[in-house]
Amino acid sequence: MTQPAPLHDPQARGFASDNYAGIHPEILAAITRANGGHQVAYGADVYTQHLQGVFQQHFGPDAASYPVFNGTGANVISLQAMTERWDAVICAESAHINVDECGAPERVGGLKLLSVPTPAGKLTPELVELAAGGRGDEHRAQPKVVSITQSTELGTLYSVDEIAAIVERAHDRDLVVHLDGARIANAAAALDVPMRAFTTDVGVDVVSFGGTKNGMMLGECVVVLNPDAVRGMVFLRKLSMQLASKMRFVSVQFDAMLSGDLWLRNARHANAMASRLEAAVRDVDGVRVQRPVEVNSVFATLPATVTERLQEQYPFYVWDELTGEVRWMTAFDTTESDVDGFAAALRDEMTIGQVRQH
Ligand SMILES: Cc1ncc(COP(=O)(O)O)c(C=O)c1O
Repeated sequence: MTQPAPLHDPQARGFASDNYAGIHPEILAAITRANGGHQVAYGADVYTQHLQGVFQQHFGPDAASYPVFNGTGANVISLQAMTERWDAVICAESAHINVDECGAPERVGGLKLLSVPTPAGKLTPELVELAAGGRGDEHRAQPKVVSITQSTELGTLYSVDEIAAIVERAHDRDLVVHLDGARIANAAAALDVPMRAFTTDVGVDVVSFGGTKNGMMLGECVVVLNPDAVRGMVFLRKLSMQLASKMRFVSVQFDAMLSGDLWLRNARHANAMASRLEAAVRDVDGVRVQRPVEVNSVFATLPATVTERLQEQYPFYVWDELTGEVRWMTAFDTTESDVDGFAAALRDEMTIGQVRQH
């Protein structure tokens, strides 16, 4: 039977998001491997059971993993499991849970977020301390969880010591720590440490583990590192509409990602492509790279007219409408020639812009 032609150009790649990328071939092969025959639904299949050991290899023998469909779901489930109805979650103002989840933590999770302006998207022990006031005051939502993102929404990284210091302060104040790891692999690759170095080993309690942005078709996972920090995990996925009936196809993707080094290869590659891009554009007159390039994104300012013309060739997002700051994000499948082609197009557009000005 002849297959219909794709509706898109399979060679076209831009710099909008690692979510724009397709599925890594090894992941696609794993999905095929798990296909055929019948398996128990809702996570009692052999792939999901096997996955428990796989996550334990990375996060230690106490890790319990709960695959879900997406990152918003992983976050909302994690935070619900960590809180009572009167509790609150301290997070950076720029946190995905605060700005990019359509209010799901509030509406679906019923959570109060205490968002804090931060330098470079990163909380500090001092900021946690400031936000953790009001304990015991019956008029105040009770700070209970500190949620940090690693790597951050602004493409920055916490060092292992920075996370350790936040966790120490949080635990001292009887707070538990959630880590949004939508890009945890990029962080581990950049820090050149195992993922447990900045999670299990420093006392993080729960991780939202990201798979989609690093080459999976779909799927994220709530990884509980401290069973005492949560309750109701058995029920919360279904309650939150995140319990996949054909879970084997989510789980087998994580297996393919984590049993070997695919997670690291993909993340290292995406990070390297962002470094290459930064190196290629940093000396272009009129383009200013705004933040340190630590993982797989480059934030820059450039003239709005150039942004518009460039977007006609390569999709990417304007991050801040007020300042004109844009985000260029690389993925596991970004090639060196994608980066070089984009940098050349940027240079051309800047030159055209300058000629028009004269
Ligand atoms: C930091 C962070 N957390 C979580 C998510 C997951 O979101 P989604 O619900 O789209 O999978 C994203 C996706 O952009 C993200 O950047």
